[in-house]
Amino acid sequence: MKHTDVVILAAGKGSRMQSDLPKVLHPLGGRPMLEHVLVAAGTVPDGRSIVVTGHGATQVEQSFADGEHLFARQGEQLGTAHAVQMALPHLRSGAVALILYADVPLINATTIARMLDAVAPQQIALLTLQTDNASGYGRIVRGVEGAIESIVEHRDATAEQLNINEINTGVMALGADQLKAWLPQINNNNAQGEYYLTDLIAIARAHDCRVESIQPTSANEVQGVNNRVQLAELERAYQGQLARTLMLAGTTLADPARFDQRGELVAGVDNYIDINCVFSGSVTIGSGVTIGANCTISDSTIADGVEIKANSIIESAVLGECCSVGPFARLRPGTVLGKHAKVGNFVETKKAHLGEGSKINHLSYIGDAELGDHVNVGAGTITCNYDGVNKHLTQIGNEAFIGSNSTLIAPVEIGDGGFVAAGTTLTKNVNDAELAVGRAKQRNIAGWQRPIKKED
Ligand code: UD1
Ligand code: MG
Repeated sequence: MKHTDVVILAAGKGSRMQSDLPKVLHPLGGRPMLEHVLVAAGTVPDGRSIVVTGHGATQVEQSFADGEHLFARQGEQLGTAHAVQMALPHLRSGAVALILYADVPLINATTIARMLDAVAPQQIALLTLQTDNASGYGRIVRGVEGAIESIVEHRDATAEQLNINEINTGVMALGADQLKAWLPQINNNNAQGEYYLTDLIAIARAHDCRVESIQPTSANEVQGVNNRVQLAELERAYQGQLARTLMLAGTTLADPARFDQRGELVAGVDNYIDINCVFSGSVTIGSGVTIGANCTISDSTIADGVEIKANSIIESAVLGECCSVGPFARLRPGTVLGKHAKVGNFVETKKAHLGEGSKINHLSYIGDAELGDHVNVGAGTITCNYDGVNKHLTQIGNEAFIGSNSTLIAPVEIGDGGFVAAGTTLTKNVNDAELAVGRAKQRNIAGWQRPIKKED
């Protein structure tokens, strides 16, 4: 038995989510629950996933239409055995079949590997959990010798069986050929009138097949999500795992309970992340980086020694070594900062390239702009990049100085060492080392009479 066919049940309605979105598409750590399960299933060598869809089938199938997975539709939800039955035509002869659940998103690769290791021609693997809170779950019934004999659902259990504190997590692995042979023997003569997959255990025993139990590494790993309260609990558990991984790899978190990673985060060592930061998409951080409180960072690369001060928003940007950003900076897509560049408070950048050591320290909008090295952009500078129809480029050479409250009407170019006087409305190019003054001349009027308040 060398191939593994992973059957992932995802057909249930999830009515308790109170949602128009199919339950398995609700995100955990920024990714749909089903994606987590597919990723775990994807770690199986020679594995292939078959997702059983039902409620919201089209939406679920379209969300994962990358051609890597197979889908089997379950028109009516007649029980877990019926759901698995829908996938049988896809199971390869001689394969191992592993059953997972799309609403149990934290199942981990190590546990799956242990399950698959336990499968043998006359042995099936069942993931069970010891718990003080067994209510609602199927109970594991063991015989006098301690061997697993059957599973009894809560609603079909006797008073004595209800005292059993070993529960069925639902996850099992066995030969695909055995599954194909035994599944049709399951009937729906039970309290819920459903075809129970759990009945497979007693059938296996009747065929002299042993049932080996495997325990998960934690209860969260097998926790299912039925409503948004459970989703939030599992989100915290998951974030706790991610925070722990990050800390053990050398990043200090001010408070791991106030950290959110919704995607991929790769970080070096000796970084410090203050509270309430949210990382999404794919973010790479070097080493010695400091990130202040309340920053949101998505799809960006941050080099060594960067300091991002509180309340900054960084999206699809690249920050060179030892840059300083914020507080209250907004770096929009296409922002690239050279080494030691500085973007200060209330500055918005978009498609802006800053050379080494260039600074935009206060209250500016710099969009569609190429800045050389050691440029200084004064407070309140605006690139007028949009004429209502098209976007235009502003180019600023090395060592140029833009005085405060200037408006640079693009397309416009300022040469190396160019100097723009404060308050200039720049409409023409400035040559290297030239001074541009584009503002009304000041007149001082002597003997001017201040207005006086009128009598009624
Ligand atoms: C099931 C197990 C129970 C176990 C529990 C663990 C059975 C009969 N019982 O009970 O022993 O303790 O899980 O959480 O298997 N689904 C379908 N199609 C269906 C029915 C269900 O796709 O026709 C999917 C559901 O969407 C869900 C999963 O299968 O993701 C489990 O179904 P659910 O109805 O929640 O089973 P439980 O009653 O919780
Ligand atoms: Mg359930």
